[in-house]
Amino acid sequence: MDIEICKKGKTVNIYDPFPIPIIEDEINIDNKILKEFCLEQEKNVPSSVRSNVGGYQSPELSLDAPELFELIKAIEWSLRTWEEYLIYPPPLVIANMWCNINYYKDSNFVHLHPHSVYSGVYYIQTPKDCGNISFEHPALDLLYHYKTGGHDALFKGVSKEGRIFLFPSWLKHFVAPNMNIDQQRISISFNIQGPNDIRLKDETIYN
Ligand SMILES: [Fe+2]
Repeated sequence: MDIEICKKGKTVNIYDPFPIPIIEDEINIDNKILKEFCLEQEKNVPSSVRSNVGGYQSPELSLDAPELFELIKAIEWSLRTWEEYLIYPPPLVIANMWCNINYYKDSNFVHLHPHSVYSGVYYIQTPKDCGNISFEHPALDLLYHYKTGGHDALFKGVSKEGRIFLFPSWLKHFVAPNMNIDQQRISISFNIQGPNDIRLKDETIYN
């Protein structure tokens, strides 16, 4: 945020020209249907191996699945409503989605989402101590040499049922281990593109 500061009789402008907007929104939809849908996927479709360290990460889900209808509509609403704060011009569309189920001590290593402009995660089940998402400042390595010792190099997004985070796809992030012995952490992740962007199939370990 650009500000004008007056101190010791002198006024200066301080610019903050390169913001990295991360949007946190709350969505009110039926998580029971989504939870059952994710558990069914786990039962019937083999896990991908992407950013997940343990646990289950589904291949791309069909965006036509009726169980995803409410969530997709809610994400589209959020994108339209907060589009002026995103750093990519609208219109934007959901390109793909997948679900994540982390059991005790399962996590996701640091990664980004190639071939997309914005990405997001929606939380379906978040028991106590199930692990938060952390976003890394693009200059993380440099920030560790500054006086804060890297204190400001990470931004923690608290996982909470019904919460959604939207963030630039190039912003690296990771998920801490689920330390809840009894319950899984369940979420759905997704990528967002412009409507005419070519969807490139990404077969790397990212996402
Ligand atoms: Fe991710």
